[in-house]
Amino acid sequence: MSGVPTLDPPRLPDPAATASSLRKTVLFQVRGRVASLTGDAVTVQGMTAPLGAICELLPPDAPATLARVIGFDDTRPILAPMEPITRLAAGDRVRLLSHALTLRVGQSLCGRIVDAFGRPIDGRPLSEDLMRVDVSHSAPDSLARPPIDQPLQTGVRAIDAMLTCGVGQRLGIFAGSGVGKSTLLGMITRGTNADRVVIAMVGERGREVGEFIQRTLGEEGLKKSVVVVATSDKPAAQRLSAAYTATSIAEQFRDEGHNVLLLVDSVTRFAMAQRELGLAAGEPPTTRGYPPSVFNLLPQLVERAGRTEKGSITAFYTVLVEGDDNNEPIADTVRGLLDGHIVLNRKLAHRGHFPPIDIPESVSRLQNHLVTPEIGAAVLKIREHMVQYDNSEDLISIGAYRQGSDPRIDAAIAMRDPINILLRQHSDDQTPMEMSHQMVMKLAAAQTGQAVPGGQPANVANNPAAQQAAAQQAAQQAAAQQAAAKQAAGG
Ligand SMILES: Nc1ncnc2c1ncn2[C@@H]1O[C@H](COP(=O)(O)OP(=O)(O)OP(=O)(O)O)[C@@H](O)[C@H]1O
Ligand SMILES: [Mg+2]
Repeated sequence: MSGVPTLDPPRLPDPAATASSLRKTVLFQVRGRVASLTGDAVTVQGMTAPLGAICELLPPDAPATLARVIGFDDTRPILAPMEPITRLAAGDRVRLLSHALTLRVGQSLCGRIVDAFGRPIDGRPLSEDLMRVDVSHSAPDSLARPPIDQPLQTGVRAIDAMLTCGVGQRLGIFAGSGVGKSTLLGMITRGTNADRVVIAMVGERGREVGEFIQRTLGEEGLKKSVVVVATSDKPAAQRLSAAYTATSIAEQFRDEGHNVLLLVDSVTRFAMAQRELGLAAGEPPTTRGYPPSVFNLLPQLVERAGRTEKGSITAFYTVLVEGDDNNEPIADTVRGLLDGHIVLNRKLAHRGHFPPIDIPESVSRLQNHLVTPEIGAAVLKIREHMVQYDNSEDLISIGAYRQGSDPRIDAAIAMRDPINILLRQHSDDQTPMEMSHQMVMKLAAAQTGQAVPGGQPANVANNPAAQQAAAQQAAQQAAAQQAAAKQAAGG
């Protein structure tokens, strides 16, 4: 069958990879027969195969189907099809192909769209210079990971300024459906200064994939990206593999010395795929029907990202929060595993505040190691104003708050519009990190009346109207500077 993972050793002379590949090579023909089919789980008799092995289901009068070993019924392997089964009967032949799923990776994958097996789905063949690797790698050693101390530009002001992300950091983007996760990922792809971007689209609707690639990602975004796609109609084993495939491609780029940005949209659908497989293999359901293996696989997946001596993988994992409940089990687990979370808020999206990032609810755990103490203090100040405003919003909106009763609320009201100028951003705009940091410094300085280079020296402390005017001017100045810089770059 064409496109089936083959067993050829890696092209590049990497002794460790060659040894690993040889160990996984199937030296003898191992064949069995289909014993039973329950839901999507195929039980095979007459052969044995290790967990994770790839087999072929061979109905006599239909194309072969790839399937992966997901468990055992006594000694009989249970297989989950990785491709839709068109026809299958008890007694049909099954053949062991490989002890693990492998795929071809390398530099020439840039700009390409592939499926969970690494096969091109953009109508062009893959180039010959790719190297075959195993998708199930283990995470880098914890002691071999250098500290994360460099900021990574995303081009999104709300992130770069208020939730600075480091090279090699792993963050979650938490949101309900349709709030703006994919649009934010598109903005990050276009605005980042990472060398390579690998995007896994797990369980998305088919229509969205084309739309994301053409509109959200655009030609410019696609040039330095590899997109791995497994839409919602694909079997669970294929959707699960798409996240591993993307991670393996990113690992290869990292080993070649690049700073890679890995975007997985969404890790919830990855967990849902494993829920289907775990239940099919006979695992007991636990919280919300998720079997224990889901909570084992999540850390294994996210730990593969990060920084090594050679390069880095900075990863964003989107988490679909059912019913906007940020405490559902997958959201809760992923939040605990990552180095930060960005929460998107449906209320903000309804107000037309895009990207709808809820700053007070979000945190980048490494921000203090990535920015100067002055920027850190400015960010804290702005956060305080936002929290203060949120706490008093009900009073303010019904007109029960009287200006002058509390200077902190006065300041929060005065700073609200200028802060929103910083945080709101059109999805086609990209702001350099330096500019975002300058805007934060100017905003904080305008509020206290301190002088910053190019900023406001006026004495505005304790004068809400003057604070607002100064802060608004600072934000507008920075926005104008950015527009000028953009025009200069374009010209
Ligand atoms: N930055 C933005 N600027 C303008 N509109 C936006 C922005 N982000 C999101 N939207 C609006 O929100 C809609 C949904 O966005 P998006 O598809 O990114 O959400 P999602 O969270 O990925 O959805 P799903 O859960 O269905 O995958 C878009 O069609 C768009 O109208
Ligand atoms: Mg989406």
